[in-house]
Amino acid sequence: MELDVFTLFPDAFGWFGHQRHVENALAGGNRLEYVNYRDHTPLSAGQVDDTPFGGGAGMVLRVDVVAAALRAHYGEDAAELPAQRRIAALTPTGRVLDEGLVDELVSEPRLTLLCGRYEGFDQRILDHFVTDEISIGRYVLAGGELAAMVVCDAVLRKLPGALGHEHSALEESFSQALAGAPEYPHYTRPAEFRGWPVPEVLLSGHHARIREWRLAQSQSRADAGSLP
Ligand code: 6GU
Repeated sequence: MELDVFTLFPDAFGWFGHQRHVENALAGGNRLEYVNYRDHTPLSAGQVDDTPFGGGAGMVLRVDVVAAALRAHYGEDAAELPAQRRIAALTPTGRVLDEGLVDELVSEPRLTLLCGRYEGFDQRILDHFVTDEISIGRYVLAGGELAAMVVCDAVLRKLPGALGHEHSALEESFSQALAGAPEYPHYTRPAEFRGWPVPEVLLSGHHARIREWRLAQSQSRADAGSLP
């Protein structure tokens, strides 16, 4: 997969890029690139945003700046790109990210994420250059970078080889293996701590019973509506 993140703050992704699953995904032939809008602005003094027409607080990311950055990176007019690739802007009001949307994104050979800042994007960017608007929840962040990292993390960990054990992404919360239910609880040593014991069945070495117990736990978490 080719994943491109357009941002004013590529340095913000430094820690993220060194996560084990991200490095594994990249070593496995996937690509993650950052494009700084500021490096491609046609305006003087590195200007990328401007005050809103009609007045109001904050600054708005300019459409000509985003068009120039997309053109510089892809060698094509920005308005042609949505027909060719998935381009998602990170916005607080977009489609809320869930495991279903992550699975959609994972199946794309190419994905572009656009981060906004301050008051956000000039509407013409959203109208003409993107296929999707994605939000990571109904609250407002100061910028799209953290949200883009959330999307990248959720997507990259699902690529083959990203997690050490191929197994790990198969049987987890919301997965098909668990019929979309939350994952069962996990325990490790010590087997007892402050009088809090690990469920006996997990120490039994009886794989069929363990499996049965785990599926039942997963199902009862789903039935209890432990997730909203
Ligand atoms: Cl994608 N961006 C911003 N600025 N705030 C958010 C968000 C995105 N998702 C939730 N809040």
